[in-house]
This record gives sequence, C-alpha cells and structure tokens, in this order.
Amino acid sequence: MSEEQGSKVRGAGMLKEPRPLGPTGKPLSEFPVPAPLPSHGPARVIAMVNQKGGVGKTTSTINLAAALAEYGRKVLLVDFDPQGALSAGFGTNPHEMDITVYNVLMDRNVKITDAILHTDVENIDLLPANIDLSAAEVQLVNEVAREQVLERELRNVIDDYDVVLIDCQPSLGLLTINALTAAHGVIIPLTAEFFALRAVALLMETIDKVKDRLNQVLELDGVLATMYDPRTLHSREVITRLDEAFGEKLFETVIKRTIKFADANVAAEPITTYAANHPGAEAYRSLARELIWRGGAP
Ligand SMILES: Nc1ncnc2c1ncn2[C@@H]1O[C@H](COP(=O)(O)OP(=O)(O)OP(=O)(O)O)[C@@H](O)[C@H]1O
Ligand SMILES: [Mg+2]
Repeated sequence: MSEEQGSKVRGAGMLKEPRPLGPTGKPLSEFPVPAPLPSHGPARVIAMVNQKGGVGKTTSTINLAAALAEYGRKVLLVDFDPQGALSAGFGTNPHEMDITVYNVLMDRNVKITDAILHTDVENIDLLPANIDLSAAEVQLVNEVAREQVLERELRNVIDDYDVVLIDCQPSLGLLTINALTAAHGVIIPLTAEFFALRAVALLMETIDKVKDRLNQVLELDGVLATMYDPRTLHSREVITRLDEAFGEKLFETVIKRTIKFADANVAAEPITTYAANHPGAEAYRSLARELIWRGGAP
C-alpha cells in the first residue's frame, strides 16, 4: 500500500466501510437513541414556521411529535392555524369544538387546561383550533402586550410537558409573532425546490426582529428540507444550496416525498403508527433523535 493510500485509510478512522452519503453529500449520521427522561418538564417550546403554504409544517409537527412521543417525551401540540389542519390530523371535528385556542387567547375566563385535549397517541396532547382563530388576528391588535398572549397562556402548562410544538399558519402576521414570542426555538420546514428559498430571507428577518424586541432567547433550531425527491437533479441541487446557505442549521435529516403522508393524514394518524416501518416514519424518528442530539429538545 502506498503512503497516500495508507493515510487515507487512517483518515477514515476505524470504519471498515465508508458511511453512506446523505443528500448533502456528507456521510449520514446515525443519531443516538435518546435515554428516557427521569422526569418531565419544563418544556422547550418550538414554533414550526414558514409563511409559504404547503411546505410540510403541519405534517412535520404531527410526525415529529409522534416520534418524540415514542421516545417517551410528553408533547403538547398547539394548532395555531385557523384552517385547523393539525387538529383534523388527530381526528377532531373542528365544527364540534366548543373551546379552542381562540377562547384561550381571547377570554380571560377560559383556562388553557379547559381547551387541551388528549389525543389517541400516547404522550401527545393537543390545543386545537378552528376557523374562530381567524378573528383573533384582528381582535388581538387592540390587546395590551398583544404579542405575548400565547406565551402568557402557555406558561400555565409548561411544566407538564417536555416539548411544545406550535404549528403556525402560512403568514407572518400577529399569530405567528405570538408563536415566535412564546418559543425557545424555530424549525423552518421548506420544500426542496429553488423558489422555496426566496421566502426564507423575510422569515429570517422577522425572527431577528422578534429576538431583538420581544424574545431574546429565540434561536433557529434548524431548517428541515421536505418533499425531497432523490431521483431529480433539481432536488439534489437544492439540498446543496441549502447546505451552503444554512450550514450547521440545515438538519441532516431530510424528508423524502411520499404519498404515505397524505394517506396517514386521511386516516388521522401520524405516519409512525399508520405505517410504522415506512421510511417516512423512520425519517421523522431520525429528526427527533437529531433534534434531541442537538439540544433542541430534552
Ligand atoms: N414529505 C412529503 N411528501 C409528500 N407529500 C407531503 C409531504 N409532506 C407533506 N405532504 C403533503 O403536502 C401537503 C401540504 O403539507 P402540510 O399541510 O404539512 O403543509 P403546511 O406547510 O402545513 O401547509 P399550510 O401552509 O397550508 O398550513 C399535504 O397534502 C401533505 O399531505
Ligand atoms: Mg399547516
């Protein structure tokens, strides 16, 4: 063996075979399975934000939560979109709900615990929403400390959970500002397409402003590429661009495009139970492990 080859082998450490390359071109990491938590709370609050619609915010909220719950984390999901897709994703009927996050925000006599529902998934509770929430955006404008309303309410239950995930609507309006003000971290799901990058500059500006003026602890936990199609050069190029733009902040875990997510949604189940062994379920487990490994969740 030549010297050059010898040094290459040494450089590769003790691995017999090189690890497979991920979509970013770097070796794929196996994130360790997290240890069970000895006790629960206080929760780390994470806002799932992108003002662009249809990028996988709700799908990622449901399935990241389900994966965290499998690892024994107690999760509260906050549906912060008047479309109520997250609530529907757990089989609630939006028209039959009397008390939702809207009432919690707007009526001082309604306690957050009155609105929180247990879901069929162990370790996941839900603060549901329906179309009523669309009025809050306008009504909150006249509130004192209008950006802090959600944060104030969440404080009452923060000790009962390990993670709170807030599924935001596709806008950077007052509701999303409330979510960013209540959060410790932000996850930005975006589709692996070039035009998806455009929306992110404005979003990053908004995150910086909230951090400056309302919530000093806020940090970007990571950018999550969704609907990735490894067969297309386009998709692979976008991942390369995302890697250049976000570096460490790009989650190594990438979510591939698959119809199984829509199927699971119709069944009102997370993919981790609907198709437990599907690569899509594995991907969100990997995301949960990566998030915990990075310190983004306990
Ligand atoms: N990885 C994926 N592969 C294929 N389809 C997906 C994937 N993730 C989400 N979808 C589908 O794409 C659509 C949009 O996803 P989702 O509702 O999660 O996006 P969103 O960002 O929450 O949208 P909105 O901004 O309207 O709230 C849904 O029909 C969902 O089932
Ligand atoms: Mg959504």
